[in-house]
Amino acid sequence: MREWFAAGSAEQRVEQFSLEAAGLYLDYSKNRITPQTMALLMQLADEAGVPKRRDAMFAGDHINATEDRAVLHIALRAGADATFKVDGKSVMPAIHAVLDRMRVFSQRVRSGDWTGFTGKRITDVINIGIGGSDLGPRMVCRALSHLAGNGPRMHFVSNVDGTELAECLERLDPEQTLVIVCSKTFTTLETMANACSARQWFLDKGVAKDQLASHFAAVSTNVEAVRAFGIDPAHMFEFWDWIGGRFSLWSSVGISIALAVGFDAFEDLLIGGRAMDAHFSSAPLAQNMPVVLGMLGIWYRNFFGMPTSCMAPYSTSLELFPAFLQQLEMESNGKSVQLDGRHVRAHTAPVVWGSAGTNGQHAYFQLIHQGSQIVPVDFVAPLRPPRQLPGHHAKLLANCFAQAEALMLGRTAEELRATGLTDEIRIAHMVFEGNRPSNTLLMQDITPHTLGALIALYEHRTFVQGVVWNINSFDQWGVELGKILAKPIEGELNHAQSAAAGQHDASTGSLIARARAALGNA
Ligand code: F6P
Repeated sequence: MREWFAAGSAEQRVEQFSLEAAGLYLDYSKNRITPQTMALLMQLADEAGVPKRRDAMFAGDHINATEDRAVLHIALRAGADATFKVDGKSVMPAIHAVLDRMRVFSQRVRSGDWTGFTGKRITDVINIGIGGSDLGPRMVCRALSHLAGNGPRMHFVSNVDGTELAECLERLDPEQTLVIVCSKTFTTLETMANACSARQWFLDKGVAKDQLASHFAAVSTNVEAVRAFGIDPAHMFEFWDWIGGRFSLWSSVGISIALAVGFDAFEDLLIGGRAMDAHFSSAPLAQNMPVVLGMLGIWYRNFFGMPTSCMAPYSTSLELFPAFLQQLEMESNGKSVQLDGRHVRAHTAPVVWGSAGTNGQHAYFQLIHQGSQIVPVDFVAPLRPPRQLPGHHAKLLANCFAQAEALMLGRTAEELRATGLTDEIRIAHMVFEGNRPSNTLLMQDITPHTLGALIALYEHRTFVQGVVWNINSFDQWGVELGKILAKPIEGELNHAQSAAAGQHDASTGSLIARARAALGNA
């Protein structure tokens, strides 16, 4: 890459390997690519059927074949006049009916019109959910917190470790707290355990059973389970099985976003996602941002065998984006079986990791610069800060750009010697190989619109890669077995049942015995 950038045609390279779409600017020139590489990668995308599968998704086909479901999170962010259908029936009226209810509810809570059981306004909202019912809205609320205004404080509780809920409740006043139980299935162990404990907290604090209604709302596809839990379906916001959990922040799962930053901002988020959808569905492959990013990922994963990739947002507001991306990519594409049941013929999703810059520079960037394996990095940065403190943002951006430059250029032994260094061992340690790839993605500001476009970009990138690997990006069978095995172990830990001889392997059996002893159930 160093040589390519030293050539007279370097500016042309940047021009050629950069793209703008939906308010995002992508510079992908610092990659190990030539025009021919990109042409061949685009040919691969085409031959793998990316345009065909994309069109099938937009047409509402059951592309989630193993669960026999359509995949239409794109309909959630489409205008009311869009024509998305599932099994021949338009889904738009139902989507917009729920959006209307979300608008009314969020405005009532934010204005103080919706009150707790003693008539006081709601100051705190807890979203109880996990996975897709947590990571997306949590990340968006964090990213847009500068727009919260007088809205309620948002809290997110996901883990079944009671510490999380207990620490959250410690700080809250039951008279002014609203709980959103957010679960697609409304059967998830962690969410139901936390929801039951939250309900008990209200009761213990003197809230009568019939007063709980002012303090609970639900988001789910499962009306019966919501009713059985004791939440009035009038306080339930519906969504549908053709939305995957990790793609659901655009649905009523986003009610916490509307509560935190207002419904208008939530709508702008949808519009940003819609702008990326329009780009993805119409731009030619070579100018299509999700396709280009997706195929660069394939290039490094499959042609260079790079096992991980790093997401480095240079923005504290976007600090939860890597965690969101982990579920999006690894739950979607962490698969080993192709659509036809055969084993995959190439490696699938890399391990995704990362955190906000500049923090990562003082932790793990050493490995990215000089480690023995190469890690492609996606740098993401807003050109202007959501919150102003003089001088800070230029320092932040300077470091972001410098990291990408250092990764690409490296530093040679000759350059070090030219500074007067003579100790060859020292020089060996101070050499940077360079030639390490990165993308840089910029947006003017972090707004609901640009954030919506960014999320949709990575959703579609994930989809593109799944198509190339010929896997189903929309199921998650791999999460099942552990859940099934946890049930009897929980019974054994609580001493409600003992393990039959040989039920567990020796290691697991001994761990259970230790825990039972610690819990006093031996
Ligand atoms: O266990 C994984 C998973 O099924 C995710 O796919 C999902 O986002 C999460 O659990 C939460 O599921 P639910 O919204 O049904 O509670």
